[in-house]
Order: sequence, then structure tokens, then C-alpha cells
Amino acid sequence: MTFLSDLQIVAGALDRQVADAHAGAVPVLAQRPMSAIIEDLQLDRFARRGGLEGDALRRFMDAYLPTIINLHQPGYMGHQVAVPHPSAAIGALIDGLTNNPMPIYEMGPGAAAIESFVLDWMLKKIGWTPPEPGHRTGKGVSGGVLTHGGSLANLTALIAARSSVRPDAWRQGSPGDLALMAPGNNHYSIERAAGILGLGTDNIYRVPTDARGAIDPRSLPATLAHIRRDGKTPMAMVANACSTAVGIYDRLRPIGEFCREQGIWLHVDGAHGASALLSPVYRHLLDGVELASSLTWDAHKMMRTPSVCAALLVRDQRTIDTAFDQDASYLIHDRDQPGFDFLHRTVECTKSGMGLKFFLTLGALGEEGLAWYVERQYGLAAQAYDYLKGLGWVETPVVPQANILCFRVAGSDARQLELRKRILAEGDFYITSTLFEDQRYLRLVFMHPDTTLDDVKRYMPRGNADHRPRGSRAALHKAILTERPSRGVGARSASARRIARLEYKVSITPLSP
Ligand SMILES: Cc1ncc(COP(=O)(O)O)c(C=O)c1O
Repeated sequence: MTFLSDLQIVAGALDRQVADAHAGAVPVLAQRPMSAIIEDLQLDRFARRGGLEGDALRRFMDAYLPTIINLHQPGYMGHQVAVPHPSAAIGALIDGLTNNPMPIYEMGPGAAAIESFVLDWMLKKIGWTPPEPGHRTGKGVSGGVLTHGGSLANLTALIAARSSVRPDAWRQGSPGDLALMAPGNNHYSIERAAGILGLGTDNIYRVPTDARGAIDPRSLPATLAHIRRDGKTPMAMVANACSTAVGIYDRLRPIGEFCREQGIWLHVDGAHGASALLSPVYRHLLDGVELASSLTWDAHKMMRTPSVCAALLVRDQRTIDTAFDQDASYLIHDRDQPGFDFLHRTVECTKSGMGLKFFLTLGALGEEGLAWYVERQYGLAAQAYDYLKGLGWVETPVVPQANILCFRVAGSDARQLELRKRILAEGDFYITSTLFEDQRYLRLVFMHPDTTLDDVKRYMPRGNADHRPRGSRAALHKAILTERPSRGVGARSASARRIARLEYKVSITPLSP
């Protein structure tokens, strides 16, 4: 067997799978017990004897693919996980085989150059000044690093914040008086970072929020006064762009102005929503982001890149250059080299060439194609919200700002979960669920570029038939049947639309006869 023949087997199987998923010919998810999967895949046999290649590999793929969750099925409306662009998957393959862990330049000059380029591209989208090409050091410029995920980017941001407030903390340990300011709905990785850093989660002071869960900027002075009364020092303020559960953006300009006046590090968690920076239509949601000290921005959420690829970006690159105060003589030493080592900016030592996966998406779609994707998905959430509101028997807690839409039907929290279970068991759709203001909601996250309003309509009547008021069924069905399908949500240019339409055609063209 050769690499190429095995690759053809795998590529052919994936190609068919993606085409079937896209056509809705396979379920989004068909869960089976873990022990049955282990047995079917003959894991024990291959682990003992080897030989997983050629025809065995073909059979393995035949057994493996039915076990996956099919993100490429337009009924996938689940977690904030990218439906990868096929080019990004090719990037993952290239990175997998070449394996250039590039935190030190000589272990992957091309991958490091791509990381450097995509970071600078992101910095410009924020409105910050990247370093001169080829020079990643110096004052007055911004910087960043790619990390294995948004949680790690958030942790790295808070390490940099701590080091800017208490440079000695690296050697002497976290002093007991540091406090964080954050809304109660921040992603759990913020509490995790507080725990890891030794700040203690009890030292996160919750800033009051409005009914949608967005920070009330007028409340910030009172929260700060509270911290000071307790004899503590604010280490950082964390804001959401957007929140995980319901996708609401904090108002960054007044928050940023307050933090600047008070000399407080503002970290914006834009893991999901920073991609709105690409769109002239939605960029305003991050108005004021340039006032922040740091921003987390995941490519593996709204930029069609497979897991994992996230960025931590800082307004002053010296803050990330000094965050980790360490020596590793076998890696970090002065060298006359034509590139830059990212190693001192990351928790990770070995790191994958993540930039390649992302760049192949960017290079295929162009920034206009990515912007169009964001606009389409955000626009779809707005349309679906109007549709659900119009039904009259669905409760929606917030008007969506992103591509996240929550709703509940009449009945208890347990009823919502029961409904989700039923929808998942039918196999055509995958949706999630969240608590918001102590109530359980069903949650749609529109990640698939071909999900339409009709898909939402398809499961609503089925999923909720027994929750509608009596007598409304016929009227509802009539409304569904007569409503026109959505037309080009958020459409921008003809070329961007063409790119988005073509990508699945590319993915379903068989690679081998
Ligand atoms: C706002 C926010 N921050 C951070 C994260 C964590 O990112 P990751 O899953 O890449 O670690 C998420 C994930 O959903 C998120 O929504």
C-alpha cells in the first residue's frame, strides 16, 4: 500500500460522505453505545496486529463514518463548531503529514510565516498596527499568537494581564489581592483561567447586566468601588463579543473607555463573534474593540476552519512578549535567523501549524467570501427569529445579534430537554440547549452555509406539534406552505455568492474514478 492509494480510499469515502450529508441522505447523528463502536471498528484487533491499510482501511472508513456527527448536513444547528471548508481540511492534511511544529522558526519557516501573516491580517481588521513585515519586535505595535483554542487564548490573555499588573507574580506566585471583573455569562474558560492562575474564582466580581445578559456599562464604577473597598486590585475586565449561550455582544466602546480611564486591562472574548469584524454590515457590533488590551478570536468557529485554530491578539505586543518569563536553553537562545520564534508567547511547546488550515480557507474564499458567510448566518438567525415569533407559541428570550437563536415552547425545563432528545433521535437535525436567566432554552447555532429558513420550518411543526394551542395546526401548516423560501440572506456581491455556491460542488466531485 502507498500513501497515495490509502489517501484515495480515504478521500473517496470522505467525498461521498460529505455529498450524502449535504444532500440530507444520512442522519446528522445516530448515536450508538461506545462499546459497540469499539467492537465494530475492531480497535483491539488492529491495536494488537496492525495492518490498518488498503482494504482494511476501506472497511474501517465504512464502519467509522456512520459514527460521526455530520457537520456537513444542513440540519446541523448545534455547537459553535465550524463546518470546515474543504480547503481547510486539505490544510489539516498537509500539516498532519509535514508536521511542522513551528513555535521555533527553524521547525517550520513556512508555517511560522503564515501564522505571522494571518495574525497581522487579524490585527488590521481590529484597527491595530501590526509590526513591519519581517520584524515582530518593537514598541508601538500590536501582536499575537495562534493557540490551540479559544480557552487557551483566554488563559494566555489573563496571564499577560497579570504580568502587566504584577510583573513579579510569575516568580512569586499570584498575590491574594487580584480581582477580575466579568459578566456572569462569560464562557467557563474564564473561571478556569482564574483557577489555573491561582486568582480564585471567588475573586471574579460579577458586573451587572441588562435583560439580555449584556454588561451595563453604567454599573462599572460601582463594581470597581466594590473591588477597592474589599482591598483588591482589578487585574482585568472581561467582556463578551459575543456571549456563548445567546450570542449577545457587550457594548465595547463605553466599557473600553472606562477601562482606559481607570487603567484596567480589557480582554474581549470574541472567540465566536469577532468574525463580525470582517463584515461592513455587522462590524458595528464590535465598535470600540480597538480600545481593548487583548482579543480572543477563533478561526475554528466562524471562519470555516477545522478544530483547532484560535488567536490571541494584543494591542501592545510587548505585553505578550513578557507574559511568560522563562528560559529553555535547548529552545530559546539568541540566534541569527531569518524569522521569528513564537514559542515564548504560548502555553504550548509543540504546536501544530494551525495557520495553514485557516489560511487555505481564507485563500479559497477570500475575505469577502468569509464576510459573506458571516452575514448570511447572522441574517438567517434574524429571519428565523421573525419566523418563530410569528408562530405565536414559541418564546424567544432575546433578539439575536449573531447566528445564535434560543427559544422555548410551553412547558417545563425538562420538557425542552425531552423535545431536544426527540429531535436528535429523529436524526435529521442537531440542536443544543442552554440555561438563560435560570430557564432552559433550545438553542440553534447556524453554522452550515447551506442551512435555510426552510430547514427550521421543517422541524418546528414536527418537534412541537403537541405544544401548539388547539386549532392552530391547520393555520400553521398553511403559513408554512405558503411562505416563500428565504432569498439570499445578507447577500453582498455576485462573486462572493458564486464562491459560496461552488464550494460544495468542489467537495462532491469524486477525486478518483
Ligand atoms: C465566548 C467563548 N469563549 C471561549 C470559548 C472557548 O473556545 P474553545 O472551544 O476554542 O476553547 C467559547 C466556546 O464556545 C466561547 O463561546
